[in-house]
Amino acid sequence: MYYPEEIIEEVRMRNDIVDVISGYVKLQKKGSNYFGLCPFHNEKSPSFSVSPQKQMYYCFGCGAGGNVITFAMEYENYTFSEAVKMLADRAGIKLPEVEYSKEERAKADKRSTLLEINKLAANYFYYQLHQPQGKIGYDYFKRRALSDDIIRRFGLGFANKTSSDLYHYLRSKGYQDDILRDSGLVTIEERGTYDKFWNRVMFPIMDVNNRVIGFGGRVMGDGEPKYLNSPETMVFDKSRSLYGLNYARTSREKYMLACEGYMDVIAMHQAGFTNAVASLGTAFTTQHAMLLKRYTDQVILTYDSDGAGVKAALRAIPILKEVGISTKVLNLKPYKDPDEFIKNLGADAFRERISQAKNSFLFEINVLKRDFALDDPEQKTKFYNAVARKLLEFSEALERDNYTQAVAREHYIPYEDLRRLVNRLGSQLSGMQPKPSSGSYEKREKKKKTEKEDGIRQSQRLLLTWLIERPQLFEKIEGIVGPDDFIEPLYHQVAKMVFEDHAQGNLNPARILNHFINDEEQYKEVAALFNASLKESLNNEEQQKAFSETVLRVRKNSLDYASRNAADIAELQKIIREQAALKTLHVTID
Ligand code: UTP
Ligand code: MN
Repeated sequence: MYYPEEIIEEVRMRNDIVDVISGYVKLQKKGSNYFGLCPFHNEKSPSFSVSPQKQMYYCFGCGAGGNVITFAMEYENYTFSEAVKMLADRAGIKLPEVEYSKEERAKADKRSTLLEINKLAANYFYYQLHQPQGKIGYDYFKRRALSDDIIRRFGLGFANKTSSDLYHYLRSKGYQDDILRDSGLVTIEERGTYDKFWNRVMFPIMDVNNRVIGFGGRVMGDGEPKYLNSPETMVFDKSRSLYGLNYARTSREKYMLACEGYMDVIAMHQAGFTNAVASLGTAFTTQHAMLLKRYTDQVILTYDSDGAGVKAALRAIPILKEVGISTKVLNLKPYKDPDEFIKNLGADAFRERISQAKNSFLFEINVLKRDFALDDPEQKTKFYNAVARKLLEFSEALERDNYTQAVAREHYIPYEDLRRLVNRLGSQLSGMQPKPSSGSYEKREKKKKTEKEDGIRQSQRLLLTWLIERPQLFEKIEGIVGPDDFIEPLYHQVAKMVFEDHAQGNLNPARILNHFINDEEQYKEVAALFNASLKESLNNEEQQKAFSETVLRVRKNSLDYASRNAADIAELQKIIREQAALKTLHVTID
């Protein structure tokens, strides 16, 4: 941990979770909890709950859960210490000088040193662009119709023709070879040391906080490679970086424009479309989609109009859909990319194309259609079948029907025919689901065994949930069940803290949860445990029975476990007596 536990606890306590989350998610009070649409998965009805008592959130849909600190980590993509810092600022708490472990300090220091080096390099390239030796780069940008304003805004620069002047510059600033090598800006070999980028115009890549994390460099004319990019470094992860997002995130549009290249982003921003971003030198990833999802739920793809661009769009659509972003595709024809389109037809024409952008599903159907020669009846039937199969991707009937109508209209397919085809195909496919096989004897035995283990875990989990939800029940189990009866290691850890907290009159799930912050699996499980709710639908008598059974089962399992591990006969006899006594025990709720 970077900060002492008391400080983290203070930060957590002084940031009410309902307050904080309300800044990101629209919440509505229902009973003692608040509900809203989950920001971590796509949903139409709210299953994301925030509990002011527990100071925790939990999504019944996707299982995301945690306290105010993890919310900040997950939502803002912060590290633990960044989240603590943000929340401390928010609550006006002054954090002490951080206490790093040696390793953590080295790592954090290295990251910030790499960022410093990148920033120096960006300034250096920018400076060169405006020197006589950089005129060739400056002229190149001018030929590509970039204004001085936009050059400054994107920090564009120039890497000199000489092969190691950036290296010498950075050395003169006191940086050693090792760290310079790790920055990806220089290559150090026995034969000598070279700048990675030379004789290129330079595009610094910034993260959402405007920190330079890497570079792209373009040859000024023909040459290979056209763009050279920084390698991945400790601060540059291509699959999580989007060029232009630092500006696009503050644009006021509801949607974002996603394109393929540096120049496209810059040209769009210059034309007033400041909501444009690009994934650079790499295909669009789920991480990119999740990053975008923090700022928008609509994306318009403005990929190149060539075959590669169409392919890239077809790949990106389902990735975006998966995280709950709806996508449209913009038609750039007859131009190749947004940069060329805008240069030729201007911003108004581009705006017009935005308004005509095609729903991604209809775009997919258009692409599909190209594979069929529709004047051939057989091919036409095949096309209709393919369309119907694709329509079955929509699991909701209403949505599927809306799309059936739209496709029918656009491709002149009689609607009723298409609808019937979809339904018929749908029932055929669902009839074809493989039947669950009964499996081999071993498999069945194994299943039985894991079911039993699950049952044991489940009763421990359930009992913890009861105790957290209704602390008055601690009294009822006194002398019957204690923390050591929770034999599942994770639950044992949790139980120890829950019992201890309770003894001190201060049961605090959100604080307990913090102990598991370094292990995602455990963290999720504990969060789920603290947020499971008891079935309110049970009547009093049923609840009584359920509670009593759970308590006895936990104790019984614990005794069974102890008997298997008993050290000697005396201990075993004691356990057997307790097992017998258990049969006559009665536990009540009230
Ligand atoms: P394009 O080849 O479509 O280039 O590559 P472009 O964006 O139109 O660039 P200009 O207009 O010719 O200057 C699209 C993107 O793919 C990456 C770059 O991010 C580029 O912007 N790319 C392309 C590379 O990383 N390396 C390359 O060699 C080529
Ligand atoms: Mn281009």
